[in-house]
Amino acid sequence: MKEQIREQWDTNADAFVDLIGGEGTPHHKKILNPCVERLLGNVKDKTLLDAGCGDGYLSRYYAKKGAIVTGVDISPKLIDVARKPGSDIDYKIADICNLEDLQNNSFDLVLSNLVLLNIPCLNEAIKEFHRVLKPDGVLIFSIVHPAFNFYGPGSWQMGEKDPKTNRRQGIYFKVDHYFEEKEYQRYWKTRQGEDFPAPISFFHRTLSTYLNTLSSAGFHLIEFVEPEPMDDDLFFDRERRIPFFAVLKARKM
Ligand SMILES: C[S@@+](CC[C@H](N)C(=O)[O-])C[C@H]1O[C@@H](n2cnc3c(N)ncnc32)[C@H](O)[C@@H]1O
Repeated sequence: MKEQIREQWDTNADAFVDLIGGEGTPHHKKILNPCVERLLGNVKDKTLLDAGCGDGYLSRYYAKKGAIVTGVDISPKLIDVARKPGSDIDYKIADICNLEDLQNNSFDLVLSNLVLLNIPCLNEAIKEFHRVLKPDGVLIFSIVHPAFNFYGPGSWQMGEKDPKTNRRQGIYFKVDHYFEEKEYQRYWKTRQGEDFPAPISFFHRTLSTYLNTLSSAGFHLIEFVEPEPMDDDLFFDRERRIPFFAVLKARKM
């Protein structure tokens, strides 16, 4: 399974890097990233683990803000892209479910942005985050909201094209089989609207599974956010009606 996931991300690496464009998609920029930044607070001189760092755009962003960043990812191709000459970010190829190269109690902050929904081993990853955090260290992770994820139990029922946005209108969002925790494979779309070269594995879990996994590992929940779009851009008409992302901030006890 680990090899299959590594291969998916390696195969999709070029398409993924192009989609992220060095700064995230509009959904990241206008909905998710401002929320994550507020929850992280002042990162200056703090040790930060970017767990599942992808092309490293968030590692670079928080390193510029003064954090001492380690970025890990399972995809050697994405780590290759992330490593830039002259950067003092420490990038490693690693599985977040087994961070054996990282020491106990070594980070002030762990950020895992849109990664835990792509791994089969949630329990192990959360335990590893707990182990590598210092006492009172903070974990922030984001996921696509599991109740409203169309790579899971849901889908928009679509109507006519809206002339203002040139997008098809969402009539309502249908959710079914929410309690069935299972793997889905889906193709992401490139900026040009073509399928990525390989499908991506998504692991649907209920919100209670995420919350109970945190508390069983010894985390105390500080804040749970379902972030709303930052402005009234017509592009986010659907995202203003139901939450696209869920973000959790928890402290190591
Ligand atoms: C949706 S991307 C998010 C990347 C980055 N955090 C961001 O916000 O742009 C998911 C990332 O998780 C990585 N990944 C998947 N399974 C992993 C694992 N077990 N250990 C480490 N990284 C993993 C993938 O290679 C990919 O870079």
